[in-house]
Amino acid sequence: MSQPSFFAEDQSVIESALEKLLPAESTRPSTIHQAMRYSVFAGGKRVRPILCYESARVFSQHVDAAATAGCALEFIHTYSLIHDDLPALDNDDLRRGKPTCHKKFGVAMAILAGDGLLTLAFETLSNANIAAERRVRIISEIGHAAGTVNGMVGGQVADVEAEGKQVDGAALEYIHRSKTAALIRASVVAGAIAGGAHDEDVARLGRFGEAVGWAFQVIDDLLDVEESSVALGKTAGKDQVQKKATYPAVFGIEKSRTFAQELSQRAHRELDCYGDRGARLRELANYLLSRRA
Ligand code: FPP
Ligand code: MG
Repeated sequence: MSQPSFFAEDQSVIESALEKLLPAESTRPSTIHQAMRYSVFAGGKRVRPILCYESARVFSQHVDAAATAGCALEFIHTYSLIHDDLPALDNDDLRRGKPTCHKKFGVAMAILAGDGLLTLAFETLSNANIAAERRVRIISEIGHAAGTVNGMVGGQVADVEAEGKQVDGAALEYIHRSKTAALIRASVVAGAIAGGAHDEDVARLGRFGEAVGWAFQVIDDLLDVEESSVALGKTAGKDQVQKKATYPAVFGIEKSRTFAQELSQRAHRELDCYGDRGARLRELANYLLSRRA
């Protein structure tokens, strides 16, 4: 599946919004701003901001504020990668083909850069040009998705605690839905809310985002087995070395691929009622779930 025609254009909208929202490297204290910028501009695909932006477009033509909310999601995503790579967690030297934040700036600065990005995300959301009631709903959705109860931090805790243990399908489901799907779901939901969607549409897009996000992590597990470190820009084959709870480890490659396809179909069904208005989200889902890196 090739990259959707609008993807590069969306990426450049997000790049310039990120550029404006991040403090300049020279801003005191300069080291942390260098570290935050180093990781945000290390070559991420901008999946979450683009999902947010394009979800808003299903409901509105005024999508600038959704791009701002998308940047907040990218800050949270980047913080999670910086902390995930730390020696106390996955201990990785390579991310997006470059030295990880702690390799470049030291562990203390990497922890603080993550803290800075997480905090900047909520400042950014609070200042976004979205009606107050919707803005607060978005902050609540994203805060919950990044948090400990069925959210990213909770999923990461379960991921760490599952290392080296025999896990079942239910435990694996919890890890994937919390660690990865929650923030991707929140990206889609935040876009829909920013675009002025009615509650039932927000819920429907939430189910779409959840299925895409879950499949996204199943694919991530598969890529770790199937692709090279060069292709991935991070150390391949690490899940097996670290005895991680992954879909291929528990169900095998074939079943994991089939499951990712089922989730993709589930995602598509949620968009059926939108006709042409859902075309971009359909293309995005297909692209993200056929990715090789
Ligand atoms: C790749 O995203 C990342 C994932 C699939 C998410 C993995 C989840 C974590 C690392 C959670 C960590 C949580 C904490 C609290 C430390 P991507 O393919 O969009 O990456 P890109 O931005 O490099 O393109
Ligand atoms: Mg990890």
